Amino acid sequence: MKILLIGNGGREHAIAWKMALSTIVDKIYCAPGNGGTHLENKCVNVNLDTIDELLNFAKEEKIDLTFVGPEAKLVEGIVDVFKENGLKIFGPSKAAAELEGSKAFAKEFMKKHGVKTAAYEVFDRVEEALDYTEKCPYPIVIKADGLAAGKGVVICGTAEEAQNTLKDFMVNDVFKGSGKKVVMEEFLDGVEASILSVTDGNVIVPFISAKDHKQIFDEDKGPNTGGMGAIVPNPYCTENVLKEFEETMLKPTLSGIKEEHMDYCGIIFFGLMITKKGTYLLEYNVRMGDPETQAVLPLLESDFTEIILAAIDGKLKDVEIKWKKGGACCVVLASKGYPGSYETGKAIDIKAAESKVFAAGAKYEDDTLKTSGGRVMSIVSTGDTLEEAIKNAYADIKNVNFEGMYFRKDIGTLYR
Ligand code: AMP
Ligand code: GLY
Repeated sequence: MKILLIGNGGREHAIAWKMALSTIVDKIYCAPGNGGTHLENKCVNVNLDTIDELLNFAKEEKIDLTFVGPEAKLVEGIVDVFKENGLKIFGPSKAAAELEGSKAFAKEFMKKHGVKTAAYEVFDRVEEALDYTEKCPYPIVIKADGLAAGKGVVICGTAEEAQNTLKDFMVNDVFKGSGKKVVMEEFLDGVEASILSVTDGNVIVPFISAKDHKQIFDEDKGPNTGGMGAIVPNPYCTENVLKEFEETMLKPTLSGIKEEHMDYCGIIFFGLMITKKGTYLLEYNVRMGDPETQAVLPLLESDFTEIILAAIDGKLKDVEIKWKKGGACCVVLASKGYPGSYETGKAIDIKAAESKVFAAGAKYEDDTLKTSGGRVMSIVSTGDTLEEAIKNAYADIKNVNFEGMYFRKDIGTLYR
């Protein structure tokens, strides 16, 4: 079968790699893909961007299955358009993608269906939001309602900070519309977990738990990034936490999807906060996490493409998703200066490595791989235990090199 895979990150390289291992997959068109997917088995990069371009390509090439990596196209409604045109696509409808596209919508959904989450208020008038800063508890978490490329959440310690954030979001409109409405939410002190899951609208099947490391520097210091590494499974996801997740998040979410008649066949990612007083749902994402996916898929024993096809047929309950024993670790190799400004165009030298090397901000040009983004590559290793996976990943970093290469030395270290 022929697959169209949309996206250009490390997540998409990992998905392309895993799909290429499937005996039922002949060819994967990566739109636009990156330097890693260019070199990947069965993969061809195609330079397509808009929904119209993707739709025309899928029709002309008689694509059997389209997989959407990032959230933006899902929120834009690509699934509805492809389905109206009789094409097979995996992902939530535009209406269901609002679970990620609008934080206010997601919180209302959680509240209505009894999903355990932090207390919150929604404001679309700046005067009312500013009034609330006079009486809300601190720290308070302010979230832009719409998509903001991971930058739309600010934890404010004081009223002054909250007021400045609200002015930036709602008056100065730094997120071009996305921050005109805000969610102001109770601060939860704890550790995070990412539970990627797959749903066909009848059941939600969780994948193995993951933990990402968001901060740029060791010891979880410095500004947040798109993610500097990930480990699987998440050591904080004990049996009790997973049971609480299933009862207070997964089950009510599934009931909500059914009650609201949401057309949801795709990935649903639960972002959890595990605190001393229990576990809460911070957010839904309607796509796979990055870098989590890069560490999750190497541990998946089952055929990923077959899982997706079963979900599209509404037969997920008949599928057993098998995981390899042990753990996985992903260490991101970034350009010096990221998440601030950085240089690109540096040649990347890769020697044969035991680990999987996934590309993100790397392009193939003049027969060489060159850096083209902040997070350039990842080294991903598995092991019989998580500790071994971490050791294997770090042992293999010497096989990749480019000028200004930076990585965290402590992926997998737990600080609390
Ligand atoms: P979100 O996009 O809602 O997941 O928020 C992005 C990040 O902000 C999360 O991964 C957390 O690190 C942090 N965050 C969000 N909501 C809260 C909260 N209620 N309490 C503490 N931290 C939060
Ligand atoms: N790593 C978090 C995310 O993909 O949103």
